[in-house]
Amino acid sequence: MIETDSVVMRRKLAATRADRSNPIKQFNVLWLAEEAEHGRALSAAAERLGVRLRSPEKRPMLRDLRSVTTWPALYVSGALIPYLDAAYCVLGSLQEYIALTTYRRIAVRVGDEALYGLLHDIARQEGRHMRFYAESAKVLLSEPSARWVTVTLINHLWRPPGVDLLGLEKWLNVFRPLFDDHEYVSNLLRVDQILGKLTHYAEVRPMRRFIEAAMPEKLQSGREL
Ligand SMILES: [Fe+2]
Ligand SMILES: [Fe+2]
Repeated sequence: MIETDSVVMRRKLAATRADRSNPIKQFNVLWLAEEAEHGRALSAAAERLGVRLRSPEKRPMLRDLRSVTTWPALYVSGALIPYLDAAYCVLGSLQEYIALTTYRRIAVRVGDEALYGLLHDIARQEGRHMRFYAESAKVLLSEPSARWVTVTLINHLWRPPGVDLLGLEKWLNVFRPLFDDHEYVSNLLRVDQILGKLTHYAEVRPMRRFIEAAMPEKLQSGREL
């Protein structure tokens, strides 16, 4: 569901025109096709494992409203226009990193050979997506103001992939078991390092803040620090 939702996300971003630069637009054609393929492959795997898939639920109005009042409103606010490409690419780097980390960890934990192969193939593509976004971000973040705008936007708006789609409670039901795995948590916390490295703002830690707010017990041991 989260993979398929990337299509929805892409439409939102098109509304903000954050992807208006040509290389990003060209890459998005490939990116969208691959993300849709991940959705289909994972649905097929789930069905083979006996999961009956429901058709995607309609998003509650409130979430749509929030998305409409955040990115496009920021776009309209004019001053940010030159930096939305940068913010989009940084956001892309973080989300792709989370996707590849999550697939690799699930692959190890499920212990099924065929699924391991499938999840690693998908993770490889997520890694390629991540490299494209991160390299683009480096170019687009050369100005200090681009870095400041990007880090401010992401620090205020960012949530892990799937939270907007499922709602926090459902998201936690699905993903909480993975957070018992300290290796997974410490890999996820690297999101903040990636953001810090790209924007030169090391003190901003949206991933740590999210985990602290949603699952404080997962950080209390300090083992993942
Ligand atoms: Fe994907
Ligand atoms: Fe991806």
